[in-house]
Amino acid sequence: MDRALFYRCERCGNIVALLKSGGGTLNCCGQEMTKLVANSTDAAQEKHVPVVTREGEKLKVTVGSVAHPMTAEHYIEWIALVTENKIEVVHLKPGMEPKAEFTYLDERGEELYTGENDEEVLNCEGQPCNFVLHENPSKFVEVYAYCNLHGLWKTEL
Ligand SMILES: [Fe+2]
Repeated sequence: MDRALFYRCERCGNIVALLKSGGGTLNCCGQEMTKLVANSTDAAQEKHVPVVTREGEKLKVTVGSVAHPMTAEHYIEWIALVTENKIEVVHLKPGMEPKAEFTYLDERGEELYTGENDEEVLNCEGQPCNFVLHENPSKFVEVYAYCNLHGLWKTEL
């Protein structure tokens, strides 16, 4: 599913994230902004599609399976985590690694159980566990990366 979240002005280079869709047209510099469609540029997939691994509470993102260049002329400008409940953007600069980290636990409806009130939480096998499930986990978890030359790329979890 494409959520058409990011738009770019082809004149000035502004990029915006749409926080709420009102149905109108986004304009900049006197013209309609371009809706960015992920993974639609003819470029090396292995250098652009975000690779995501989960390590405990963290989602670790690297762009891509072969590291993307991070030179002044060609680099990953930002990496974003998008769920039903939030958008989190990490900005990168040339010379940095094409990587970002996000907190993950709540995205799939999991939350660390802090042990307040001395209650013990049991899982379905009756064993104590240290996390509980929310009733409304995010229906989607997406990771985006934006290359200054090759545009928007995405991985869905
Ligand atoms: Fe690129």
